[in-house]
Amino acid sequence: MQKLLITGGKKLSGEVVISGSKNASLPIIISSLLFDDPVQFENVPKVKDIYTLINLIKVLGREVEFDENKEILKISKKNKDKYFAPYSIMKTMRAGVLVLAPLLAKFGKAKVSLPGGCSIGARPVNLHLDALKKLGAKINVKNGYIDASAPKGLLGANIKFSSISVGATESIIIAAVLAKGTTKISNAAIEPEVIDLIKFLNKCGADIKYNSKRKIIIKGVNFLYPIKHKIIPDRIEAGTYAIAALITNGKLLIKNVNNDHLQNIFSVLKKIGANIKTFKDSFVIFRKHQLKPFKIITKPYPGFPTDMQAQFMALATQIKGLSVINEEIFENRFLHVSELMRMGADIEIKKQKATIKGIKNLNGAEVMATDLRASVSLVLAALSAKGITTINRIYHLDRGYSKLEKKLNLCGANIRRVND
Ligand code: UD1
Repeated sequence: MQKLLITGGKKLSGEVVISGSKNASLPIIISSLLFDDPVQFENVPKVKDIYTLINLIKVLGREVEFDENKEILKISKKNKDKYFAPYSIMKTMRAGVLVLAPLLAKFGKAKVSLPGGCSIGARPVNLHLDALKKLGAKINVKNGYIDASAPKGLLGANIKFSSISVGATESIIIAAVLAKGTTKISNAAIEPEVIDLIKFLNKCGADIKYNSKRKIIIKGVNFLYPIKHKIIPDRIEAGTYAIAALITNGKLLIKNVNNDHLQNIFSVLKKIGANIKTFKDSFVIFRKHQLKPFKIITKPYPGFPTDMQAQFMALATQIKGLSVINEEIFENRFLHVSELMRMGADIEIKKQKATIKGIKNLNGAEVMATDLRASVSLVLAALSAKGITTINRIYHLDRGYSKLEKKLNLCGANIRRVND
Protein backbone atom coordinates (compact mmCIF):
# COMPACT_ATOMS: atom_id res chain seq x y z
CA MET A 1 0.00 0.00 0.00
CA GLN A 2 1.11 3.54 -0.68
CA LYS A 3 1.19 6.53 1.61
CA LEU A 4 1.91 10.24 1.34
CA LEU A 5 4.62 12.04 3.31
CA ILE A 6 3.86 15.75 3.49
CA THR A 7 6.25 18.33 4.90
CA GLY A 8 4.05 21.26 5.89
CA GLY A 9 4.56 24.99 6.18
CA LYS A 10 5.17 25.89 2.52
CA LYS A 11 3.17 28.78 1.01
CA LEU A 12 1.65 27.64 -2.27
CA SER A 13 1.91 29.80 -5.33
CA GLY A 14 1.40 29.07 -9.02
CA GLU A 15 -1.21 27.51 -11.28
CA VAL A 16 -3.36 24.41 -10.94
CA VAL A 17 -5.27 22.91 -13.88
CA ILE A 18 -8.51 21.27 -12.79
CA SER A 19 -9.50 17.91 -14.29
CA GLY A 20 -12.89 16.87 -15.63
CA SER A 21 -15.56 16.08 -13.06
CA LYS A 22 -15.50 12.52 -11.74
CA ASN A 23 -19.11 12.74 -10.59
CA ALA A 24 -20.27 13.99 -13.99
CA SER A 25 -18.18 11.43 -15.90
CA LEU A 26 -19.56 8.39 -14.07
CA PRO A 27 -23.29 8.69 -14.98
CA ILE A 28 -22.51 10.02 -18.47
CA ILE A 29 -20.20 7.08 -19.23
CA ILE A 30 -22.82 4.71 -17.81
CA SER A 31 -25.49 6.25 -20.07
CA SER A 32 -23.33 5.18 -23.05
CA LEU A 33 -24.78 1.69 -22.49
CA LEU A 34 -27.95 3.08 -24.11
CA PHE A 35 -26.14 3.60 -27.43
CA ASP A 36 -25.60 1.23 -30.33
CA ASP A 37 -22.94 3.41 -31.97
CA PRO A 38 -19.55 4.42 -30.50
CA VAL A 39 -19.49 7.43 -28.15
CA GLN A 40 -16.58 9.67 -27.21
CA PHE A 41 -15.98 11.78 -24.12
CA GLU A 42 -13.33 14.46 -23.54
CA ASN A 43 -11.94 15.84 -20.26
CA VAL A 44 -12.35 12.49 -18.46
CA PRO A 45 -10.24 12.52 -15.27
CA LYS A 46 -7.54 9.90 -14.70
CA VAL A 47 -8.82 8.74 -11.32
CA LYS A 48 -9.35 5.29 -9.84
CA ASP A 49 -13.18 5.45 -10.01
CA ILE A 50 -13.00 5.97 -13.78
CA TYR A 51 -10.72 2.92 -14.17
CA THR A 52 -13.13 0.89 -12.02
CA LEU A 53 -16.01 1.99 -14.23
CA ILE A 54 -14.04 1.12 -17.37
CA ASN A 55 -13.69 -2.43 -15.99
CA LEU A 56 -17.40 -2.59 -15.30
CA ILE A 57 -18.33 -1.32 -18.78
CA LYS A 58 -15.98 -3.94 -20.30
CA VAL A 59 -17.59 -6.70 -18.21
CA LEU A 60 -20.92 -5.55 -19.66
CA GLY A 61 -19.63 -6.24 -23.16
CA ARG A 62 -18.29 -2.90 -24.36
CA GLU A 63 -14.94 -2.03 -25.86
CA VAL A 64 -13.21 0.88 -24.13
CA GLU A 65 -10.23 2.94 -25.28
CA PHE A 66 -8.86 5.55 -22.86
CA ASP A 67 -6.26 7.94 -24.25
CA GLU A 68 -4.77 9.04 -20.93
CA ASN A 69 -2.70 11.88 -22.38
CA LYS A 70 -5.61 13.47 -24.18
CA GLU A 71 -8.10 12.37 -21.51
CA ILE A 72 -10.42 11.05 -24.24
CA LEU A 73 -12.53 7.97 -23.66
CA LYS A 74 -14.13 6.00 -26.50
CA ILE A 75 -16.75 3.34 -25.90
CA SER A 76 -18.11 1.01 -28.55
CA LYS A 77 -20.38 -2.00 -28.61
CA LYS A 78 -18.92 -5.49 -28.84
CA ASN A 79 -20.96 -8.29 -30.32
CA LYS A 80 -22.37 -9.65 -27.10
CA ASP A 81 -24.20 -7.62 -24.46
CA LYS A 82 -23.97 -8.79 -20.85
CA TYR A 83 -26.34 -7.95 -18.03
CA PHE A 84 -24.40 -9.00 -14.93
CA ALA A 85 -22.50 -6.51 -12.74
CA PRO A 86 -20.50 -8.50 -10.16
CA TYR A 87 -19.83 -7.64 -6.52
CA SER A 88 -16.07 -7.76 -7.13
CA ILE A 89 -16.36 -4.46 -9.07
CA MET A 90 -19.39 -2.91 -7.35
CA LYS A 91 -17.90 -3.15 -3.87
CA THR A 92 -15.40 -0.36 -4.55
CA MET A 93 -17.64 2.12 -6.33
CA ARG A 94 -21.21 2.89 -5.31
CA ALA A 95 -22.05 4.82 -8.49
CA GLY A 96 -21.80 1.49 -10.36
CA VAL A 97 -25.39 0.77 -9.31
CA LEU A 98 -26.45 3.26 -12.00
CA VAL A 99 -25.81 0.57 -14.66
CA LEU A 100 -29.10 -1.00 -13.64
CA ALA A 101 -30.99 1.80 -15.42
CA PRO A 102 -29.51 1.53 -18.96
CA LEU A 103 -29.45 -2.28 -18.86
CA LEU A 104 -33.15 -2.36 -17.98
CA ALA A 105 -34.01 0.34 -20.50
CA LYS A 106 -32.09 -1.19 -23.38
CA PHE A 107 -32.25 -4.94 -22.78
CA GLY A 108 -35.11 -5.36 -20.30
CA LYS A 109 -33.01 -7.28 -17.81
CA ALA A 110 -30.11 -6.85 -15.38
CA LYS A 111 -28.48 -8.50 -12.41
CA VAL A 112 -26.44 -5.97 -10.47
CA SER A 113 -24.68 -6.39 -7.14
CA LEU A 114 -25.82 -4.12 -4.34
CA PRO A 115 -23.01 -1.63 -3.85
CA GLY A 116 -20.58 -2.26 -1.02
CA GLY A 117 -20.72 -0.60 2.38
CA CYS A 118 -19.62 2.96 2.80
CA SER A 119 -17.91 4.65 5.72
CA ILE A 120 -19.83 7.94 5.46
CA GLY A 121 -23.28 6.45 5.95
CA ALA A 122 -25.63 3.59 5.08
CA ARG A 123 -26.29 4.97 1.58
CA PRO A 124 -29.23 2.76 0.62
CA VAL A 125 -30.50 2.52 -2.99
CA ASN A 126 -34.23 2.35 -2.15
CA LEU A 127 -35.00 5.60 -4.03
CA HIS A 128 -33.40 4.18 -7.23
CA LEU A 129 -35.29 0.89 -6.96
CA ASP A 130 -38.71 2.34 -5.99
CA ALA A 131 -38.58 4.77 -8.92
CA LEU A 132 -37.50 2.06 -11.40
CA LYS A 133 -40.47 -0.02 -10.19
CA LYS A 134 -42.77 2.93 -11.02
CA LEU A 135 -41.38 2.81 -14.57
CA GLY A 136 -42.52 -0.82 -14.77
CA ALA A 137 -39.44 -2.76 -13.62
CA LYS A 138 -39.85 -5.93 -11.59
CA ILE A 139 -37.18 -6.01 -8.92
CA ASN A 140 -36.12 -8.73 -6.56
CA VAL A 141 -33.24 -8.21 -4.11
CA LYS A 142 -31.67 -11.47 -3.00
CA ASN A 143 -28.26 -12.70 -1.88
CA GLY A 144 -26.75 -9.25 -2.30
CA TYR A 145 -27.92 -8.85 -5.89
CA ILE A 146 -30.62 -6.74 -7.54
CA ASP A 147 -32.38 -8.96 -10.05
CA ALA A 148 -34.43 -6.77 -12.36
CA SER A 149 -36.50 -7.17 -15.48
CA ALA A 150 -38.84 -5.12 -17.60
CA PRO A 151 -40.50 -7.65 -19.89
CA LYS A 152 -42.78 -5.03 -21.49
CA GLY A 153 -40.10 -2.33 -21.56
CA LEU A 154 -40.01 0.73 -19.30
CA LEU A 155 -42.98 3.10 -19.34
CA GLY A 156 -43.03 6.79 -18.45
CA ALA A 157 -44.41 7.61 -14.97
CA ASN A 158 -44.69 10.38 -12.39
CA ILE A 159 -41.96 10.11 -9.78
CA LYS A 160 -41.87 12.24 -6.65
CA PHE A 161 -38.73 11.61 -4.66
CA SER A 162 -39.30 11.71 -0.90
CA SER A 163 -35.81 13.14 -0.50
CA ILE A 164 -33.28 14.59 -2.91
CA SER A 165 -30.79 12.10 -4.33
CA VAL A 166 -28.20 12.81 -7.02
CA GLY A 167 -27.77 9.14 -7.95
CA ALA A 168 -31.49 8.27 -7.98
CA THR A 169 -32.25 11.31 -10.17
CA GLU A 170 -29.52 10.22 -12.61
CA SER A 171 -30.82 6.61 -12.59
CA ILE A 172 -34.31 7.72 -13.59
CA ILE A 173 -33.11 10.15 -16.27
CA ILE A 174 -31.09 7.33 -17.87
CA ALA A 175 -33.95 4.83 -17.50
CA ALA A 176 -36.64 7.16 -18.88
CA VAL A 177 -34.84 8.56 -21.89
CA LEU A 178 -35.78 5.60 -24.12
CA ALA A 179 -38.98 4.65 -22.22
CA LYS A 180 -42.41 4.81 -23.83
CA GLY A 181 -44.24 7.99 -22.80
CA THR A 182 -43.37 10.85 -20.48
CA THR A 183 -41.67 10.71 -17.10
CA LYS A 184 -42.04 13.60 -14.68
CA ILE A 185 -39.61 13.79 -11.77
CA SER A 186 -40.34 16.09 -8.82
CA ASN A 187 -37.93 16.89 -6.02
CA ALA A 188 -35.06 16.03 -8.36
CA ALA A 189 -31.39 16.77 -7.71
CA ILE A 190 -30.15 19.64 -9.90
CA GLU A 191 -26.41 19.38 -9.26
CA PRO A 192 -24.27 20.58 -12.22
CA GLU A 193 -23.32 16.91 -12.76
CA VAL A 194 -27.02 15.97 -13.23
CA ILE A 195 -27.44 18.89 -15.66
CA ASP A 196 -24.34 17.78 -17.62
CA LEU A 197 -25.92 14.33 -18.03
CA ILE A 198 -29.14 15.96 -19.31
CA LYS A 199 -27.22 18.22 -21.70
CA PHE A 200 -25.26 15.27 -23.09
CA LEU A 201 -28.41 13.18 -23.65
CA ASN A 202 -30.29 16.13 -25.23
CA LYS A 203 -27.41 16.68 -27.67
CA CYS A 204 -27.87 13.01 -28.64
CA GLY A 205 -31.57 13.44 -29.43
CA ALA A 206 -33.20 13.00 -26.01
CA ASP A 207 -36.08 15.27 -24.98
CA ILE A 208 -35.42 16.32 -21.38
CA LYS A 209 -36.52 19.60 -19.81
CA TYR A 210 -35.66 20.80 -16.31
CA ASN A 211 -36.17 23.83 -14.12
CA SER A 212 -34.75 25.27 -10.93
CA LYS A 213 -37.85 24.10 -9.02
CA ARG A 214 -36.48 20.55 -9.10
CA LYS A 215 -38.80 19.36 -11.89
CA ILE A 216 -37.48 17.25 -14.75
CA ILE A 217 -39.68 16.16 -17.67
CA ILE A 218 -38.42 13.40 -19.95
CA LYS A 219 -40.30 12.51 -23.14
CA GLY A 220 -39.12 9.09 -24.25
CA VAL A 221 -37.47 8.88 -27.69
CA ASN A 222 -36.81 5.84 -29.90
CA PHE A 223 -33.07 6.11 -30.24
CA LEU A 224 -30.03 8.20 -29.37
CA TYR A 225 -27.40 9.17 -31.90
CA PRO A 226 -23.83 9.55 -30.66
CA ILE A 227 -22.01 12.81 -30.37
CA LYS A 228 -18.72 13.92 -28.78
CA HIS A 229 -19.13 15.41 -25.32
CA LYS A 230 -16.74 17.37 -23.11
CA ILE A 231 -17.24 16.65 -19.40
CA ILE A 232 -17.62 19.71 -17.12
CA PRO A 233 -14.70 20.65 -14.83
CA ASP A 234 -14.62 19.16 -11.33
CA ARG A 235 -16.04 21.85 -9.01
CA ILE A 236 -15.04 19.92 -5.88
CA GLU A 237 -11.43 19.59 -7.03
CA ALA A 238 -11.40 23.35 -7.78
CA GLY A 239 -12.83 24.12 -4.33
CA THR A 240 -10.22 21.88 -2.72
CA TYR A 241 -7.32 23.77 -4.35
CA ALA A 242 -8.95 27.08 -3.36
CA ILE A 243 -8.70 25.93 0.28
CA ALA A 244 -5.08 24.83 -0.32
CA ALA A 245 -4.26 28.43 -1.29
CA LEU A 246 -5.96 29.88 1.79
CA ILE A 247 -4.71 27.35 4.34
CA THR A 248 -1.08 27.94 3.32
CA ASN A 249 -1.60 31.73 3.04
CA GLY A 250 -0.57 31.38 -0.60
CA LYS A 251 -1.96 32.50 -3.94
CA LEU A 252 -3.17 30.18 -6.71
CA LEU A 253 -4.49 30.62 -10.23
CA ILE A 254 -6.99 27.79 -10.69
CA LYS A 255 -7.66 26.99 -14.35
CA ASN A 256 -10.22 24.98 -16.37
CA VAL A 257 -13.18 25.71 -14.08
CA ASN A 258 -16.80 26.74 -14.51
CA ASN A 259 -17.14 29.65 -12.07
CA ASP A 260 -20.97 29.44 -12.16
CA HIS A 261 -20.79 25.99 -10.54
CA LEU A 262 -18.57 27.38 -7.77
CA GLN A 263 -20.79 30.24 -6.56
CA ASN A 264 -21.97 28.39 -3.43
CA ILE A 265 -18.35 27.75 -2.44
CA PHE A 266 -17.12 31.23 -3.43
CA SER A 267 -19.81 32.99 -1.38
CA VAL A 268 -18.60 31.26 1.83
CA LEU A 269 -14.92 31.80 0.97
CA LYS A 270 -15.52 35.53 0.35
CA LYS A 271 -17.33 35.90 3.69
CA ILE A 272 -14.41 34.18 5.40
CA GLY A 273 -12.01 36.72 3.90
CA ALA A 274 -10.77 35.34 0.58
CA ASN A 275 -10.03 37.54 -2.38
CA ILE A 276 -11.36 35.78 -5.47
CA LYS A 277 -10.94 37.25 -8.92
CA THR A 278 -12.77 35.33 -11.64
CA PHE A 279 -11.90 35.15 -15.35
CA LYS A 280 -13.63 33.27 -18.21
CA ASP A 281 -12.66 29.77 -17.08
CA SER A 282 -10.26 30.38 -14.19
CA PHE A 283 -9.95 32.25 -10.90
CA VAL A 284 -7.23 33.58 -8.61
CA ILE A 285 -7.55 33.18 -4.87
CA PHE A 286 -5.59 34.47 -1.86
CA ARG A 287 -6.29 35.86 1.60
CA LYS A 288 -7.64 39.42 1.58
CA HIS A 289 -7.26 39.87 5.32
CA GLN A 290 -7.20 37.70 8.42
CA LEU A 291 -9.74 34.91 7.93
CA LYS A 292 -12.98 34.96 9.95
CA PRO A 293 -14.79 31.95 11.44
CA PHE A 294 -17.84 30.65 9.57
CA LYS A 295 -21.03 28.59 9.81
CA ILE A 296 -22.05 26.21 7.05
CA ILE A 297 -24.86 23.71 6.57
CA THR A 298 -24.49 21.12 3.83
CA LYS A 299 -27.47 20.94 1.46
CA PRO A 300 -28.29 19.66 -2.03
CA TYR A 301 -27.17 22.02 -4.84
CA PRO A 302 -27.43 25.02 -5.04
CA GLY A 303 -26.76 24.69 -1.29
CA PHE A 304 -23.30 24.16 0.17
CA PRO A 305 -21.86 20.78 -1.01
CA THR A 306 -21.25 17.98 1.48
CA ASP A 307 -18.24 17.06 -0.67
CA MET A 308 -16.48 20.30 0.49
CA GLN A 309 -17.30 19.99 4.19
CA ALA A 310 -14.13 18.16 5.27
CA GLN A 311 -11.87 20.61 3.43
CA PHE A 312 -13.55 23.59 5.12
CA MET A 313 -13.06 21.87 8.47
CA ALA A 314 -9.31 21.67 7.88
CA LEU A 315 -9.35 25.40 7.03
CA ALA A 316 -11.38 26.21 10.19
CA THR A 317 -8.54 24.89 12.37
CA GLN A 318 -6.47 27.82 11.02
CA ILE A 319 -9.08 30.54 11.66
CA LYS A 320 -9.31 32.35 15.00
CA GLY A 321 -12.66 31.75 16.75
CA LEU A 322 -15.42 29.15 16.57
CA SER A 323 -16.55 27.77 13.21
CA VAL A 324 -19.59 25.50 12.94
CA ILE A 325 -20.36 22.85 10.32
CA ASN A 326 -23.74 21.07 10.15
CA GLU A 327 -23.68 17.94 7.98
CA GLU A 328 -27.23 17.35 6.74
CA ILE A 329 -26.68 14.93 3.84
CA PHE A 330 -24.78 11.97 5.31
CA GLU A 331 -25.14 10.62 8.84
CA ASN A 332 -21.52 9.66 9.40
CA ARG A 333 -19.38 12.11 7.53
CA PHE A 334 -17.11 13.32 10.34
CA LEU A 335 -14.56 10.51 10.15
CA HIS A 336 -11.78 13.01 9.42
CA VAL A 337 -12.35 14.68 12.81
CA SER A 338 -10.43 12.17 14.92
CA GLU A 339 -7.53 12.28 12.46
CA LEU A 340 -7.45 16.10 12.45
CA MET A 341 -7.44 15.96 16.27
CA ARG A 342 -4.38 13.68 16.14
CA MET A 343 -2.68 16.62 14.42
CA GLY A 344 -3.74 18.98 17.22
CA ALA A 345 -7.14 20.30 16.04
CA ASP A 346 -9.76 21.24 18.65
CA ILE A 347 -13.12 19.94 17.37
CA GLU A 348 -16.30 19.00 19.22
CA ILE A 349 -18.96 16.83 17.60
CA LYS A 350 -22.60 16.78 18.72
CA LYS A 351 -24.72 14.59 16.44
CA GLN A 352 -24.47 16.17 12.95
CA LYS A 353 -22.79 19.37 14.17
CA ALA A 354 -19.04 20.01 14.44
CA THR A 355 -17.64 23.02 16.28
CA ILE A 356 -14.05 23.84 15.42
CA LYS A 357 -11.99 26.08 17.69
CA GLY A 358 -9.11 27.87 16.00
CA ILE A 359 -6.38 28.82 15.66
CA LYS A 360 -4.63 25.58 16.55
CA ASN A 361 -1.12 25.06 15.35
CA LEU A 362 -1.24 21.65 13.73
CA ASN A 363 1.69 19.26 14.02
CA GLY A 364 2.63 16.51 11.62
CA ALA A 365 1.38 13.07 12.70
CA GLU A 366 0.65 9.63 11.29
CA VAL A 367 -2.99 9.64 10.13
CA MET A 368 -5.35 7.44 8.15
CA ALA A 369 -7.56 8.33 5.20
CA THR A 370 -11.11 7.03 5.65
CA ASP A 371 -13.00 8.27 2.60
CA LEU A 372 -12.33 10.40 -0.45
CA ARG A 373 -13.00 13.89 0.90
CA ALA A 374 -11.79 13.05 4.41
CA SER A 375 -8.43 12.09 2.89
CA VAL A 376 -8.03 15.38 1.11
CA SER A 377 -8.86 17.32 4.28
CA LEU A 378 -5.88 15.57 5.88
CA VAL A 379 -3.69 16.64 2.94
CA LEU A 380 -4.84 20.25 3.42
CA ALA A 381 -4.22 20.11 7.17
CA ALA A 382 -0.77 18.59 6.53
CA LEU A 383 0.13 21.44 4.15
CA SER A 384 -0.31 23.91 7.00
CA ALA A 385 1.11 21.70 9.78
CA LYS A 386 4.55 21.89 11.35
CA GLY A 387 6.72 18.90 10.46
CA ILE A 388 5.94 15.76 8.49
CA THR A 389 2.49 14.16 8.21
CA THR A 390 2.16 10.59 7.00
CA ILE A 391 -1.20 9.80 5.38
CA ASN A 392 -2.00 6.09 5.13
CA ARG A 393 -4.63 4.35 2.97
CA ILE A 394 -4.42 6.92 0.19
CA TYR A 395 -6.30 4.68 -2.22
CA HIS A 396 -9.33 6.68 -1.06
CA LEU A 397 -7.65 9.84 -2.35
CA ASP A 398 -6.76 8.23 -5.68
CA ARG A 399 -10.45 7.44 -6.29
CA GLY A 400 -11.18 11.09 -7.01
CA TYR A 401 -8.08 13.30 -7.28
CA SER A 402 -5.98 13.18 -10.42
CA LYS A 403 -2.21 13.75 -9.94
CA LEU A 404 -2.79 15.48 -6.59
CA GLU A 405 0.79 15.52 -5.34
CA LYS A 406 2.13 16.57 -8.75
CA LYS A 407 -0.31 19.49 -8.96
CA LEU A 408 0.52 20.64 -5.41
CA ASN A 409 4.29 20.12 -5.70
CA LEU A 410 4.36 22.31 -8.84
CA CYS A 411 3.03 25.10 -6.59
CA GLY A 412 5.69 24.63 -3.93
CA ALA A 413 4.32 21.83 -1.72
CA ASN A 414 6.59 19.06 -0.49
CA ILE A 415 4.71 15.77 -0.91
CA ARG A 416 6.21 12.34 -1.53
CA ARG A 417 4.35 9.13 -2.37
CA VAL A 418 6.06 6.07 -0.92
CA ASN A 419 5.32 2.36 -0.71
CA ASP A 420 4.86 0.74 2.71
C1 UD1 B 1 -23.47 11.79 -5.01
C2 UD1 B 1 -21.99 12.05 -5.20
C3 UD1 B 1 -21.31 12.25 -3.85
C4 UD1 B 1 -22.04 13.35 -3.06
C5 UD1 B 1 -23.53 13.06 -2.97
C6 UD1 B 1 -24.32 14.19 -2.32
C7 UD1 B 1 -21.48 10.80 -7.21
C8 UD1 B 1 -20.79 9.65 -7.83
N1 UD1 B 1 -21.40 10.92 -5.88
O1 UD1 B 1 -23.58 10.57 -4.29
O2 UD1 B 1 -19.96 12.64 -4.08
O3 UD1 B 1 -21.51 13.41 -1.75
O4 UD1 B 1 -24.07 12.87 -4.30
O5 UD1 B 1 -24.11 15.38 -2.99
O6 UD1 B 1 -22.06 11.63 -7.89
N2 UD1 B 1 -30.28 8.12 -0.22
C9 UD1 B 1 -31.26 7.25 0.20
N3 UD1 B 1 -31.73 6.32 -0.69
C10 UD1 B 1 -31.29 6.25 -1.98
C11 UD1 B 1 -30.28 7.16 -2.39
C12 UD1 B 1 -29.81 8.10 -1.50
O7 UD1 B 1 -31.70 7.29 1.35
O8 UD1 B 1 -31.75 5.40 -2.75
C13 UD1 B 1 -29.74 9.12 0.74
C14 UD1 B 1 -28.23 8.93 1.00
O9 UD1 B 1 -27.99 7.95 1.96
C15 UD1 B 1 -27.82 10.32 1.43
C16 UD1 B 1 -28.73 11.23 0.60
O10 UD1 B 1 -29.82 10.40 0.16
O11 UD1 B 1 -28.08 10.51 2.80
C17 UD1 B 1 -28.07 11.86 -0.61
O12 UD1 B 1 -27.41 10.84 -1.35
P1 UD1 B 1 -27.25 10.92 -2.94
O13 UD1 B 1 -27.56 12.30 -3.39
O14 UD1 B 1 -28.01 9.81 -3.56
O15 UD1 B 1 -25.70 10.65 -3.09
P2 UD1 B 1 -24.99 9.80 -4.21
O16 UD1 B 1 -25.69 9.96 -5.51
O17 UD1 B 1 -24.70 8.44 -3.70
